[in-house]
Amino acid sequence: MDVQSQDAPQKGADQDAEPLLELKGLQTHFTTDEGTARAVDGVSYKILPGETLGVVGESGSGKSVTALSIMQLVPSPPGKVVGGEILFKGESLLDIPYDEMRRIRGNEIAMIFQEPMTALNPVYTVGDQIAESVILHRGLDKDAAREHAIGMLRKVGIPSPEERVDNYPHEMSGGMRQRVMIAIAMSCDPALLIADEPTTALDVTIQAQILELIRELQEDAGMSVLLITHDLGVVAETAHHVAVMYAGKVVEYADVHTLFAKPAHPYTIGLFHSLPDLAGKGDRLVTIPGIVPSATNFPSGCRFRTRCPIATDKCTNEEPPLVEIANAGHGHTVACHHLDEAAAL
Ligand SMILES: Nc1ncnc2c1ncn2[C@@H]1O[C@H](COP(=O)(O)OP(=O)(O)OP(=O)(O)O)[C@@H](O)[C@H]1O
Ligand SMILES: [Mg+2]
Repeated sequence: MDVQSQDAPQKGADQDAEPLLELKGLQTHFTTDEGTARAVDGVSYKILPGETLGVVGESGSGKSVTALSIMQLVPSPPGKVVGGEILFKGESLLDIPYDEMRRIRGNEIAMIFQEPMTALNPVYTVGDQIAESVILHRGLDKDAAREHAIGMLRKVGIPSPEERVDNYPHEMSGGMRQRVMIAIAMSCDPALLIADEPTTALDVTIQAQILELIRELQEDAGMSVLLITHDLGVVAETAHHVAVMYAGKVVEYADVHTLFAKPAHPYTIGLFHSLPDLAGKGDRLVTIPGIVPSATNFPSGCRFRTRCPIATDKCTNEEPPLVEIANAGHGHTVACHHLDEAAAL
């Protein structure tokens, strides 16, 4: 697969910079009728200033719940962050007062969701919805906010923004609505944009345009992006680093070139093998044999062992820690007891 451009990891990110966001052993659990669902269960990753971190993994691996935990939007009950840390600019988000978190949300950390029709309010114009956050966070008056909204619509590539600003969401196509969502998210110039499957609901041509837009905005604004996706093609084109999630944990983390050149975890290797056409867009990561374990009933030891071709007794008995591979790419970490055997897969 063609990984974006060879200098991508250096382009936006200073490798030695303090992370903008760092998760340390984050745990978010849900109370369900079947017991405790350990949706996010010890997730650690970091996002450097100005970089895009791609988070991949099959459905149910905890990608969205991790993002909602960062935003403190986990529905509670039944959900709750029960352990770990979320550090944003070095400050613990789990310890700050509610009002301060409200200020950060939308202002410093913004999120775009998978389905723009449900995230936009049908009874307000798109202009009012973009204006709302700059009135709230930046204290702009109504006229200035409207001008700002028009400017944002122009920036995200919506034609005739002076007219479109008065449209209601249903008057726009799916691709345009997603552009509006991005305009809302970007309107306060956030340091971090969380994009959870931002293109899944769109057709392939529009998908490519939206990703290109996110990439341009990221480079222009120097913001960081947390990009959640099923699609390894999207990761190859967009991300600088990649975190691979399985069953509520990160099982591998590397820069995008290292991950594509030398995937080390049997699960990551399986994801690559499961793609029939590596250059194909929109491939879903659903073809690894076996079933994703339920979050209420994870296997002991390594959670991937029930689907792993090289699992041993050690994998049943001992959970592999996420550790850096010696002599690999800078900061390449993997959670597997049998890296030598995995390399031969
Ligand atoms: N409201 C909820 N109540 C109970 N369990 C939940 C709830 N939301 C999420 N979960 C649990 O969290 C797990 C992880 O969900 P999450 O939405 O983070 O997965 P995901 O990786 O984003 O998947 P997808 O790729 O399908 O979006 C689910 O399998 C489910 O067990
Ligand atoms: Mg999700």
